[in-house]
Amino acid sequence: MYDVIVIGAGPGGYLAAERAAEGGKKTLLIEKEHIGGVCLNEGCIPTKTLLYSAKLYDGALHGDKYGVKAEKISIDHKAVIKRKDKVIKTLVGGVSAALKSKKVDVITGSAVIKGKKDGKVQVEVNGEIKESTYLIIASGSDSVKPPIPGVLEGLESGFVLTNKEVLKLDEPPKEFVVIGGGVIGLEMASYFNSIGSKVTVVEMLDKIAGPTDAKISGILKKEYEKKGITFNLSSRVTKLDNEYVYFEKDGKEEKVKADKVLLSIGRRANTIGLGLENLNIFIERGCIKVDERQETNVANVYAVGDCVGGIMLAHTAYREAEVAVNNILGKKDRMKYNAVPSVIYTNPEIASVGESEESAKEKGMDVIVKELPMQYSGRYVAENEGGSGIIRIVVDKKWNTLVGVHMIANYASELILGAVTMVESQISIDEIKKIIFPHPSVGEIIREAIFTL
Ligand code: NAI
Repeated sequence: MYDVIVIGAGPGGYLAAERAAEGGKKTLLIEKEHIGGVCLNEGCIPTKTLLYSAKLYDGALHGDKYGVKAEKISIDHKAVIKRKDKVIKTLVGGVSAALKSKKVDVITGSAVIKGKKDGKVQVEVNGEIKESTYLIIASGSDSVKPPIPGVLEGLESGFVLTNKEVLKLDEPPKEFVVIGGGVIGLEMASYFNSIGSKVTVVEMLDKIAGPTDAKISGILKKEYEKKGITFNLSSRVTKLDNEYVYFEKDGKEEKVKADKVLLSIGRRANTIGLGLENLNIFIERGCIKVDERQETNVANVYAVGDCVGGIMLAHTAYREAEVAVNNILGKKDRMKYNAVPSVIYTNPEIASVGESEESAKEKGMDVIVKELPMQYSGRYVAENEGGSGIIRIVVDKKWNTLVGVHMIANYASELILGAVTMVESQISIDEIKKIIFPHPSVGEIIREAIFTL
């Protein structure tokens, strides 16, 4: 008998289990595949190890711009993959050790919710029934597999890959086609472009990088076109065979040759096979419906992470997990999504938080948008020969607060944290002007932009 059962050991699930145990709750974590979920094993972390190797390689190839001469530079994809596996092993080991030290019981197996008995939730795993007062569902998401002719056959034959298989390729593809120019698509396009594959992106919308500020996504596209990636925008994939991806563009059918195709057109919440119907847990548009305390329509049953839809990111899952556990522990806590950072780890990186010019206008906000080239930062100039980065800040005129920051530049993934703090805390522009930034740092660009308002 447990106080809390958590289903799923991705970022949302393992953090919920740790926090519940820290709060004195006897906790069981059930995971069917691997501790760390998609993020640690097939997502955030492995892709970052690949992209770091690509960045080093790229830096070495273009070192002459900085007076560095190197010869016979090469990248060993197999060695990159081997290192990626080592990094995953280390981090998964760290999470497992943390769970152990916090005395969380962990069971490997598929959990199925059976119902409630005497007010306790019943969950079956490996043929046994486990009971608890509270349940936290953190079942994650899986890649969307559209009913396009040839996709299922391609997935079976290995011609079509998802985020899982693409990280296990022994050899880089010669001709790599990416369906979907969103986060996963762009990061993998970036890696394979850097290591020599011929990369083509086929995107349904008229821009890449989804909700990213339109100007910034345009700069990223130009940067990658210079590096040799071909983008087909406003293009609808119609079919695949084992050699080509066919798509419709401007009313005409076109095709592009591929030896591997990455399917990265979004994620779908995992809700099937969990027994949600046995507790009549509400599902809305394919995701588990929760309130701002992360509780479902069933008392004491919570859900966090990708399975609740919305912003499907590990860092929102972490916070949702804390909100759920705080409420279980009797502490008032509510989930807010007004300052969720978003990062694409391309080279240069894209990072943003809060309102964009477009979203602010849609909400009828009266805003000032200020744009500066990253060249206003001395450190950026010193380290980015010919860099074309920019920052765009969005300021609410009525409240004199910073409501959005958008950047394309190296280090943007790290710089955004400062902006998140300013947007989240809603401090005034006058207060931001009093903050001392380190010099020389690329982060100073935020201060520069504020002072040029
Ligand atoms: P996404 O939603 O970022 O991008 C999907 C793209 O595919 C969109 O641009 C969409 O317009 C396009 N698309 C949809 N259907 C299409 C079709 N039939 N043909 C052509 N294009 C089509 O989804 P993605 O890249 O699969 O990423 C999934 C999730 O993983 C996201 O929720 C993301 O937040 C997360 N993720 C986050 C990362 C990060 O924070 N850096 C890295 C990798 C993944």
